[in-house]
Amino acid sequence: MDYDFAILDFHDESEEATARRRGWIGAVLRGFREDRPEDALVDRWVGHYRTDEVTVRGAWLPEDEFGAGPMPVATYASLDKTLNAGRELLPLRMVTDVTTSAAHRRRGLLRRMIEDDLADAAAQGVPMAALTASETTIYGRWGFGAATLRTGVEVDTSTGFSLRAFADTGRVELVEPADAWPHVKAVFDTFHARQRGSVEWPVQYEDMHSAAFDFESGGANRKLRGAVHLDAAGAVDGFVLFKPGEKQTVKVEEMVALTPEAQLAFWSFLGHMDRVDKVTFNLFHPEDPLVWALTDMNRVKVTEVEEFLWLRVLDVPRCLAARPWAADGTVVLEVDDAQGHASGRYEVATAEGVAAVSRTDRPVDVRLTAETLASLFLGEVEVRRMHHAGRLEATEEAVARLAAMADLSDPPYSLTGF
Ligand SMILES: CC(C)(COP(=O)(O)OP(=O)(O)OC[C@H]1O[C@@H](n2cnc3c(N)ncnc32)[C@H](O)[C@@H]1OP(=O)(O)O)[C@@H](O)C(=O)NCCC(=O)NCCS
Repeated sequence: MDYDFAILDFHDESEEATARRRGWIGAVLRGFREDRPEDALVDRWVGHYRTDEVTVRGAWLPEDEFGAGPMPVATYASLDKTLNAGRELLPLRMVTDVTTSAAHRRRGLLRRMIEDDLADAAAQGVPMAALTASETTIYGRWGFGAATLRTGVEVDTSTGFSLRAFADTGRVELVEPADAWPHVKAVFDTFHARQRGSVEWPVQYEDMHSAAFDFESGGANRKLRGAVHLDAAGAVDGFVLFKPGEKQTVKVEEMVALTPEAQLAFWSFLGHMDRVDKVTFNLFHPEDPLVWALTDMNRVKVTEVEEFLWLRVLDVPRCLAARPWAADGTVVLEVDDAQGHASGRYEVATAEGVAAVSRTDRPVDVRLTAETLASLFLGEVEVRRMHHAGRLEATEEAVARLAAMADLSDPPYSLTGF
């Protein structure tokens, strides 16, 4: 079929553009098995996409075809924000809203749009792309690799929950989410500037975290609660957003603490709520001290570990220079990339934590795919483990050399779903 591929102008107020915009949003919701949108949701969505200058792609049926209309048969969107790569905030092409109508699947619609978008990002000098996936088997073929993991925990806060003594000279205060928002944003910005793996929030996070709008209910979020932590000087150095779950449960929606004291203060606050037996959080920080601060460490149960942030390296020298390196050394990588963006042989020479990367003809030390390169990028997985998984073609000596250079002592972490 001769699909009509187009990029929508979300600023165009003509009747046709408005109908296509609404049809496009309807198609995304249909793809994710959500309800048909109401006007309020469409207005919010359009406002967000205008502010973030989102590029909105779709495929429509040709005009004379049965079923043709303003609703597309495939959707795809992307926007440019930043990724904390460890040494700098790297421009990032964020991919979202990927759906194909059940009646038009496996005909290459996603392939066409994602390949166009990656080529566009590369042409514009955007060095990295990212997404969060609903299925893990789709995106490797386009050079995306799982780059951070997400850990879900359940904390037993029934009678007896107690933390060992810890120094907290500050305090926790409940604040209405709308009032907390400026603090939430400021804490996130500080966190984003220093946490490797962090992805900048798209603008809809303001609506979500201030409780102004809940995309599930289509109105104000009346369940969300917020608290901040103040340090000894009264400055906000953390926030937690949560809501009551079923029975005596509290579900933490988002939590960022800029100090270990603030982190433990939040757990103490959450753990000592009356008539709450369980606290759940699906983005537990890998360095959260909770387990080792509890008098009973078995009160924390890991309920899930899943891939979370997927990355796609488009510009190898630029990306590798933006991450930290643990040791001085030299290694020659050969990257195999079906779309070609990252293909080639590169000499990576590191000195004092910084890599100089150039194309080379020297003999290859390590062969890997673009997907594997993306998974190694933030240091979520060790080089040796990737080799054991059969994902690197290299001698033991080359693996050891690359591991010494590339493995990092502190873990990456991302809390931005999109
Ligand atoms: C995921 C989805 C968008 C794929 O769209 P599509 O237009 O059918 O994909 P394409 O025809 O372009 O497929 C291209 C390739 O990806 C593969 N692929 C597509 N969807 C896949 C899936 N769910 N699992 C595994 N492989 C998949 C195809 O087999 C094809 O492989 P090949 O070219 O190597 O043979 C579609 O299945 C969908 O709408 N799913 C529901 C919503 C969703 O999960 N979106 C993803 C959000 S992250």
